Amino acid sequence: MASMSKPLFVTTALPYANGSFHIGHIMEYIQADIWVRFQRMQGREVHFVCADDAHGAPIMLKAESEGITPRQLVERIAAERPQYLDGFHIGFDHWHSTDSPENVELSQDIYRRLRAAGLIATRTIEQFYDPVKGMFLPDRYIRGECPKCSAKDQYGDSCEVCGAVYSPTELRNPTSTLTGATPVLRESEHYFFRLSDPRCVEFLREWALDGRLQPEVANKAREWLEGTPDAASTMADWDISRDEPYFGIPIPDAPGKYFYVWLDAPIGYLASLKAHCARRGLDFESFIKPDADVEQVHFIGKDIIYFHTLFWPATLKFAGYKVPDRIHVHGFITVSGEKMSKSRGTGISPLRYLELGMNPEWMRYYLAAKLNARVEDIDFNPDDFVARVNADLVGKLVNIASRCAGFLVKRFDGRLAGIDHGAHEGFAEPWSGPEAVAAHYQQREFGKAIREVMQFADAVNQYVDAERPWDLAKDPAREADLHRCCSTALRAFRDLVLLLAPVLPATAEKVRGFMNLPATDWAALASPLPEGHQINAYQHLLTRVDPKQLDALFDLAPTEAPAAATKVAAAKPAAKSGGPGAAVQASASASNSDNGLISIDDFTRVDLRIALIVAAEAVEGSDKLLRLTLDVGEGRLRNVFSGIKAWYQPEQLTGKLTVMVANLAPRKMKFGISEGMVLAASSDNDDGGVYLLDPWPGARPGMRVR
Ligand code: MSP
Ligand code: ZN
Repeated sequence: MASMSKPLFVTTALPYANGSFHIGHIMEYIQADIWVRFQRMQGREVHFVCADDAHGAPIMLKAESEGITPRQLVERIAAERPQYLDGFHIGFDHWHSTDSPENVELSQDIYRRLRAAGLIATRTIEQFYDPVKGMFLPDRYIRGECPKCSAKDQYGDSCEVCGAVYSPTELRNPTSTLTGATPVLRESEHYFFRLSDPRCVEFLREWALDGRLQPEVANKAREWLEGTPDAASTMADWDISRDEPYFGIPIPDAPGKYFYVWLDAPIGYLASLKAHCARRGLDFESFIKPDADVEQVHFIGKDIIYFHTLFWPATLKFAGYKVPDRIHVHGFITVSGEKMSKSRGTGISPLRYLELGMNPEWMRYYLAAKLNARVEDIDFNPDDFVARVNADLVGKLVNIASRCAGFLVKRFDGRLAGIDHGAHEGFAEPWSGPEAVAAHYQQREFGKAIREVMQFADAVNQYVDAERPWDLAKDPAREADLHRCCSTALRAFRDLVLLLAPVLPATAEKVRGFMNLPATDWAALASPLPEGHQINAYQHLLTRVDPKQLDALFDLAPTEAPAAATKVAAAKPAAKSGGPGAAVQASASASNSDNGLISIDDFTRVDLRIALIVAAEAVEGSDKLLRLTLDVGEGRLRNVFSGIKAWYQPEQLTGKLTVMVANLAPRKMKFGISEGMVLAASSDNDDGGVYLLDPWPGARPGMRVR
């Protein structure tokens, strides 16, 4: 295949630089890294880069709230990146930033080229403006009543209660979440990329529908480009400008205007490549010219398909650059079946995983075993993780070497016996060989690749079980059989490790050391280790996962701290001498232990809020719990488990207001994480039923109860 020999330019999506990596990012990088390592093992030249996506309003506002500049915020986040990337063995060649000279230059250059091509237009639009803050408001910073169902406190673009989609100007009683001010409509001139131009539409149809995209991604693109049977599509022009104040790249010849972050973000792919080329002395132009002999591949998640299949290829095409060859789209990772969300504190903390000393290759292996080429969500299930890693990596893979290498080193000076052709044919039967595995890796069908390899591992283990080297070793007359058996098993082990090397690079490296292998490339699979090849003493490779480590990974213990602090204060009132305030607190704490009374301070530590029950449902596998989705006016929803199933039908609850404890430490339960507690009245033994609290009319989600 001709394209197989072209150099590859591979990226992952550029993560927003306003937060640490979460497990979704790590999953994307692991997927791309496995693919890249596989390509390198095939002898392909790969340039694998990424960068921080530094610009945009959220980053600007977050920095402001912390009293630092956006650049300081971005720098702080950038400084964290290596520990995650190194920690999970993710081998980017270069990590850059969209807030870089390369990106400013490239973005402005691309804009000028689009303008010269007649594809930039200006238009005056009306938009909500926060008069107190002095800035135009992105939709997510406006809340109000849904124009359809009148649900209170809904986002500027869609209603979480009825699902309606609208424009922020349709909201009733809109407010700015930044200042609480009522936004006013104000006019401003915006710059547009004229995607409706027939040239763009025609190009995109060709590019997106020629088979280069995954079928489900192509279908989406087709809908966008050609409409659905009942709604013809009209490709809308794309608004690429934002007014100051904005953290972004200035638009040439347009004072006070900046590129919308999604214009300069993908250009950051090129900026990173450019910086990488400069460091390596490579010719950047030869990668980006329209006919460049390079294969350009972007790994992304399903939420940003639109940007990568419409805006990005059109931007490149009409600026006169090479267009992407493929967009590799993956689904989302869920944790125990729950959508992960870093703001809710659910999911898995990648850093905690590493800090607990958990092996990154366990995670790589587990994710690989679940990944495929479709846009499908995958679930991280703790029990499954333990079972899978222990059974496959330790029970099947490492087991072969640990059972056979010792004999070889102790009894045969570490030298392999001649090849036993009979045995090799025996393994060949149940599995389809390295070519099949290679094809799966190439197609990103990692799960299938792993299944193939594990079938091979099963066959090798069966062979060892049948030959019983530990028995052979007891019988001096069977010395040659022992030698043959251990040599055969270790040859197969070498193959297994090569086949898994894209997934387990550190383990492969260790094996390379102990087995004296020249290199970890795919071609080596064609030549079995020769007679007399010498191996070194067996080196310990991988340990089992201890289920306790998973408990620790999900343990949210730090949030229990406040309660412990209270106890300490109560136990040592005398130590709290000092100002008058301290005395009051000490006596209040003392009275606490005396007569069960608490101070008003103690009470206000409990954050009681009005919550809207957005959804309620039974929890599979539990006869006590209902899962409630609550809106507490925070701009996000909470998940709360409540033991009220015996008393309420889910349908009775949906749409009702109630009262919850909003600052209760999140608690991991078997079914997910509970982020608070709803209050209900009951007698001491529950025999008179359980009654949820129902606020009087007028109360709204998020109001404090005090
Ligand atoms: N900054 C943009 C991308 C710009 S690319 C020119 C962005 N950043 S992000 O930090 O929100 O997401 C980065 C990548 O992580 C995206 O590909 C996104 O799909 C992916 N994921 C975010 N959450 C995810 C999961 N839960 N699971 C898997 N991938 C997820 O979007
Ligand atoms: Zn609604």
